Amino acid sequence: MGSVVATTLRAPIMARSNSTRVSSTKKKVKPKSASRTTKRSRALRTAATSDHHELYELSVQCTEAECDFIERAWKQTGRAALPSSLREDFCGTAIASCAWVRRRKSNIAVGVDLDRSVLKWGEQRHWSTLTTAERARLSIHCEDVLTAKTTPVDVVVAMNFSYFLFKERAKLLAYFKRAFTNVRDGGIFICDAYGGSEAHSEQEEERHLDGFTYVWEQHHYNPVNSTVVNYIHFRFADGTELRRAFAYHWRLWTLVELQEILKEAGFGKTVVWWEGTDKKTGSGNGVFRPTTKGEACTGWVAYLVSEKIAVPSRKPAPKSKARTLSA
Ligand SMILES: C[S@@+](CC[C@H](N)C(=O)[O-])C[C@H]1O[C@@H](n2cnc3c(N)ncnc32)[C@H](O)[C@@H]1O
Repeated sequence: MGSVVATTLRAPIMARSNSTRVSSTKKKVKPKSASRTTKRSRALRTAATSDHHELYELSVQCTEAECDFIERAWKQTGRAALPSSLREDFCGTAIASCAWVRRRKSNIAVGVDLDRSVLKWGEQRHWSTLTTAERARLSIHCEDVLTAKTTPVDVVVAMNFSYFLFKERAKLLAYFKRAFTNVRDGGIFICDAYGGSEAHSEQEEERHLDGFTYVWEQHHYNPVNSTVVNYIHFRFADGTELRRAFAYHWRLWTLVELQEILKEAGFGKTVVWWEGTDKKTGSGNGVFRPTTKGEACTGWVAYLVSEKIAVPSRKPAPKSKARTLSA
């Protein structure tokens, strides 16, 4: 699993709270999640005592912010009622799906991931802590997102750039078509993307969190086909390291390519949500808004919200009575 750049506002990758854009040119790095560690755990953390899934969640996921963003994006489409059904593609530990079913009694969530080991971890860590009623509103599928068939939902999400693993246009189109099928009429599909001049640089960035350091390494970029190899490492105060805890072999898709492919997949409308700027720091402020114009940041994270516009069913026109001409 893993994500790359982080936004603090979301948490997929959407609203996490502190976006770490770090320069006046607005660089965004993976968002910091709310601190969930204690002083005790801080003191004890070493590579040997740490769990890479736990550190991943602490570094780049903020499910409260992610759920907030889903509801904001939904409201922006003009619907009065809140969404209730969610499908989380590439769900990993399914922490977001669990947060969704906890959020409201009417919420249901479906998580899809093909890695049985991460799902098992999520079961032990998260699903087992749900109440019986919450657990009954969560279903997890150990399947490929390209083939997993589930009942159409209000919202499908693919966060932390997970779909960047589809490097060929035809593959990405197939995935977006599948997402289109999995969204009900009038529903939305949300995914995130990152970019900016530094997205093409081979570089390493550190973020110091509670008791460990999150390291985002852009190891390799190939300008010929726009593919990248990125790693997440975790470092500890005692000098130990969980090296290459997560590896990502991706294609860096541009927002315009994504919008075109989403349209081809059937989505009637896609809106890009761009992060605002903190006036004091020049960094991202964690607040995303719909826009048609971004800025030339060195690093940015954005959301794409695509609507499956319901086509009104056409009732056959009533047969008009044939006029008889009287002589
Ligand atoms: C970057 S993690 C995403 C974790 C989490 N959802 C997040 O937002 O940070 C990507 C996840 O996608 C899963 N995955 C990769 N290819 C997949 C596929 N074709 N179908 C389903 N899951 C897949 C991996 O097992 C991994 O858990």
